[in-house]
Amino acid sequence: MSAKILAIESSCDETSLCFIDTESPEKPLFYQTISHTEAMLPWGGVVPEVASRNHSVKVIHLIKTFFQEFSPRDIDTLAVTTHPGLSGPLLTGLGAMKTLALRYQKPIIPINHLLAHLEAIHLHHQVPYPYLGLIVSGGHTMVVKVNKQQEMSIIRSTLDDAAGEAFDKGGKLMGLDYPAGPLIDRYAQEGSSQAYSFPIPLKNKNNPEMSFSGLKNALRTFLEKNPDILKDTNASPFKDLCASYQEAIIQTLWFKLQQNRQGYENLPLVIGGGVACNSRLRSLFGEHWQEVFFVPPALCTDNAHMIAQTAALQLDRQIPFPQCLELTIQTRISP
Ligand code: KG4
Ligand code: ZN
Repeated sequence: MSAKILAIESSCDETSLCFIDTESPEKPLFYQTISHTEAMLPWGGVVPEVASRNHSVKVIHLIKTFFQEFSPRDIDTLAVTTHPGLSGPLLTGLGAMKTLALRYQKPIIPINHLLAHLEAIHLHHQVPYPYLGLIVSGGHTMVVKVNKQQEMSIIRSTLDDAAGEAFDKGGKLMGLDYPAGPLIDRYAQEGSSQAYSFPIPLKNKNNPEMSFSGLKNALRTFLEKNPDILKDTNASPFKDLCASYQEAIIQTLWFKLQQNRQGYENLPLVIGGGVACNSRLRSLFGEHWQEVFFVPPALCTDNAHMIAQTAALQLDRQIPFPQCLELTIQTRISP
């Protein structure tokens, strides 16, 4: 069964709208993403209240632009990120989709944002189920098993910060703008990862738990002792710092994934989420992991194309009108 899906993503600080035909989902008929990064600059991170206000304006702009090209009759079903994420931003996207459902009597497919970060892989690669997934985003770091199209079980989740937070919070300590991940990645390419040593948190053979908050604290202590490194971001010591700190984050992911893959050794691995853009992560896993698929960088950070694609794989989960008006959001997902 083919269908045309209008999907929205608004769980954090990107408002994104995508319209696909499931016959050729890799070529969206309409696709626009508005990032709120600039609005977050003064705060050095995502402020939920500011994100919510932005979404409520941007979402209307995107829907109006969409209807300049398409008519409601073109849409078979709506799809929306309902979990997990920030409550105000999620409610804004869901509210917009419910309004369309109410006005045009359309069904809605609720989508798990984390699963979508991985399922985006099917737009460009044929990965069989079940597969092992590493989700590395700004708010989540998880090892999961995707059993089939709509079924994901969590094997391990970080105890505290996500890998993306280790980049963003660490970058803030270094005086870099939010989001610092791409900036650290860029500086690191000209630095030496062996210059300074940062610990791999919970590096104990018998402890598969994952944690990243200790890294940020180790960086803080290091910078208290070596404040001059921050004076010139174009000098080698700063680039070395970025490379060394990045190396510790990526080695932590590598080490923890090895520990948590036990029993799943034969499954292919899919890596998605914003941190999957990282060049060191891609080279380390690409060279040393037996069968790994990276979500293409353009689909790694938050976007509605991955939501539309995940919905395309879950057409049987459409919630018809008017029952879809009862849908709600969930800020967290339980293990
Ligand atoms: O998946 P995403 O867009 O948002 C969430 O769902 O949370 O991920 C955003 C995260 C930010 O923490 C950002 O710093 C990080 O992805 N990121 C990177 C890179 N590009 C984005 N981290 C490391 N290296 C990169 N090249
Ligand atoms: Zn995300």
